[in-house]
Amino acid sequence: MEIKEAKFLKSSVQIGQCPPTDLPEFAFIGRSNVGKSSLINMLTNNKNLAKTSGKPGKTRLINHFIVDDRWYLVDLPGFGYAKVSKKERAKWERNTYLYLEKRENLHMIFLLIDSRIPPQKIDLEFMQWLASKQLPFVLLFTKCDKLKSEKVDDNLKAYVAELRKSWKDIPFALKTSSEDKTGREEILSLISEMI
Ligand code: GTP
Ligand code: MG
Repeated sequence: MEIKEAKFLKSSVQIGQCPPTDLPEFAFIGRSNVGKSSLINMLTNNKNLAKTSGKPGKTRLINHFIVDDRWYLVDLPGFGYAKVSKKERAKWERNTYLYLEKRENLHMIFLLIDSRIPPQKIDLEFMQWLASKQLPFVLLFTKCDKLKSEKVDDNLKAYVAELRKSWKDIPFALKTSSEDKTGREEILSLISEMI
């Protein structure tokens, strides 16, 4: 599938303000700074669509983008960002969790994981939460361009080994890079199949 046009539609604080549920929707979630907004830009071939930053905590709202007038991409605030007040963080997290749990037209959640670091408790717990709510998700290992490919493979193997300790079925996972566009075709064909 190729994308002809992607447009910013709306930023919402919470689910009640999101656009109508008339089109299939795909959301990107993961720790702050993992590369969610960059990945949306990579998929849509538009570096300026979603706002990115070297500093964590950039995306603070639920951002809807409409693609070819047929489906939505959703950029979400990252979790685990320490530099805002506890109260503020709890509010984002509550709004994001409610959105993920209740949004009727959400077809798939892409959970982004930094390919460079060992499995993090916060990511593993988030996966458990998704599974407990029976929400469908795919893992996307990000920033693969930053490591040698053998190192990426070693890290992914370690990740799978960690998951096997508590998961019977390992979630579907892809390697990605917003720099060199690794994973773009695969993600777009997944989305295309689901649409
Ligand atoms: P929040 O909105 O704060 O939650 O962050 P985010 O997950 O949206 O991350 P964002 O896309 O803003 O990227 C964070 C930083 O990582 C930026 O400096 C990006 O340029 C960089 N980055 C993101 N993806 C990649 C990638 O695939 N490769 C490399 N080398 N850098 C990346
Ligand atoms: Mg962002």
